[in-house]
Formats: sequence, structure tokens, C-alpha cells
Amino acid sequence: MLPRLLISALLFAFVAFAGAFPHIRILNEGDDACSKEKIERINQMILDAKNLASSANDTLYKPNVAKSSGFVALFGSNANPIDIANKHFAPFNMTPDVPKFVSSVQNLTAKDLTFTCPTYGAPKDTTARMSTRNWDDGDDGPDQRNNLIRIYPSSFEYVVPDSTGWHVVDTLSVPTAVRAVIAKTWFDEKAVPMGFTLVHEMQHADAFIGTKNHCIDVKYTNTEGKTVKAYGLQQAQRITAAPKVVNAQNYAWFAFLYRTVWVFPDK
Ligand SMILES: *[C@@H]1O[C@H](CO)[C@@H](O)[C@H](O)[C@H]1NC(C)=O
Ligand SMILES: *[C@@H]1O[C@H](CO)[C@@H](O)[C@H](O)[C@H]1NC(C)=O
Repeated sequence: MLPRLLISALLFAFVAFAGAFPHIRILNEGDDACSKEKIERINQMILDAKNLASSANDTLYKPNVAKSSGFVALFGSNANPIDIANKHFAPFNMTPDVPKFVSSVQNLTAKDLTFTCPTYGAPKDTTARMSTRNWDDGDDGPDQRNNLIRIYPSSFEYVVPDSTGWHVVDTLSVPTAVRAVIAKTWFDEKAVPMGFTLVHEMQHADAFIGTKNHCIDVKYTNTEGKTVKAYGLQQAQRITAAPKVVNAQNYAWFAFLYRTVWVFPDK
């Protein structure tokens, strides 16, 4: 017989996701279609994000993790680790490793979530690496409702720090990103793998994590008095506790750092 706790965890998963988990697909025709090469990268991104989320989940289930310095730094001292695991990381476990394709984003439903690949020239093409559009967002008009994860060209190239400064690469593996983290005390959030960004982006995707768990990009006023989004690791730790648990980037940092350079229990 399953222990009582496990049964309730399974029931929770069933109740939370039965019939609700979206159909995840990649657009492969028409405007904003993802090329064959990009589709390969997207598939790798999904595997990386699933691995990051799975190890974040495992860390969050460990006893006393809520008292660890990394957890407190990213979620504050009153957050509930199991809650965070179930709401923000468990859905990745249900994501197909290799999504099917869809040839148009017309006439999809609120239960569909589609990866698209806008080219240079699309709105936000140079300001964001990816952006999430939810069914209830009004900006494309009510006749064009959609759940999209838009992956812009800048997701497919990276500026990576090295001993002589920086160089540009078109892929960035998790181990390479880890070396970049270790090499720099201030880690530039541009040099993170696509899987990291997907963990972030999915925190905005209501069809994926549920409207109640929707996260935002919290604003932070830096030492020069400039208001920025709290993407950087220092900013993610410096915002106060309540914003921490609604800042999408804090989930990405938690997953990334506990898979790579932070260990639990810490010393
Ligand atoms: C989360 O981790 C716990 C403990 O390792 C495990 O029992 C559970 O299946 C994991 N959940 C997911 C969705 O991976
Ligand atoms: C979407 O629905 C409209 C109206 O029914 C139809 O004209 C159009 O062809 C459909 N588009 C696709 C891609 O199926």
C-alpha cells in the first residue's frame, strides 16, 4: 500500500493537472515558424528545463531545505518548499520530451501552448530572449487569443565570458554556463542556457502553471537609483520576501544553482 502522504501527493497531482495540462506544440509553418535547426535546439531546451526542474523538485523535498541559505536567499524564510515544488516545478515533469508540431496558431484553444520563433523585426525581438503570451492578454485583439512562448533570435546566440573578455556562441550547454557562473562573482543573466530561460518563462505561462501561480518580473531599484527587472542573481536575492516568490527569475536561479554550484545541505 502506498503511504498516506504519497497517495495525497498523487491525488494532488491528478486533481491539479487532469484535463488541465496544455497540449504543448511547436509551430513549424508560416510566420514565426521554427526552422528545423531551431526545433532541435528547442527540444534540447526542453530536456534541460525538465532536468533543472526535476532536481529543483528533489532539493525542495529534502528535510529542512526551507532553512538553507540558498532557499532563504531566493524565496525568503516563510515560503513552503513542497508548495513551490508542486506548483512551480512539478508541471515540467508532464511536459513531453519532444512536442508535436502545429502548422498554424489560428483557432487553437486555451488548453494549447505553442512555441513560436519570431524573427528579427518582430516586436520585442531585441529586448527579450523569450516572451510569454497568455490567453487573457489583450494586446493581439480578442480574435487572436493564444498561449504562446515566443523564442526570439537572441535565444539562439550567447555572449559568454572568457579569460580575455567575451565571445559569442550559438549554443550554451549547462556545464559551460556553470563555468561562467564560477568564473564571475557577478553572473550575467544573458549567459544562461535556454533551459534556464524556459524555467523562467513557464512561470509566466498560465496554461502551464495555473493562473493562481502566475509569476511576474519584479522591478528592483539598483544602487544607481535605476529601476530594472530583478533578473540578476544579486537582484533576485535582494528583493524582499513577498516579491521573491512571485519573481519568475527566482525559480530559474533556484533550479540552475542547485543543479550546478550550490549544494544542499549547505555548510
Ligand atoms: C519531487 O521529488 C519527490 C522526492 O524526491 C518525488 O517523490 C516526486 O516524485 C518528485 N515530483 C516530481 C513531479 O518530479
Ligand atoms: C480558423 O477558423 C476560421 C473560421 O472558422 C477559418 O476561416 C480558418 O481557415 C481557420 N484557420 C485554420 C488555420 O484552420
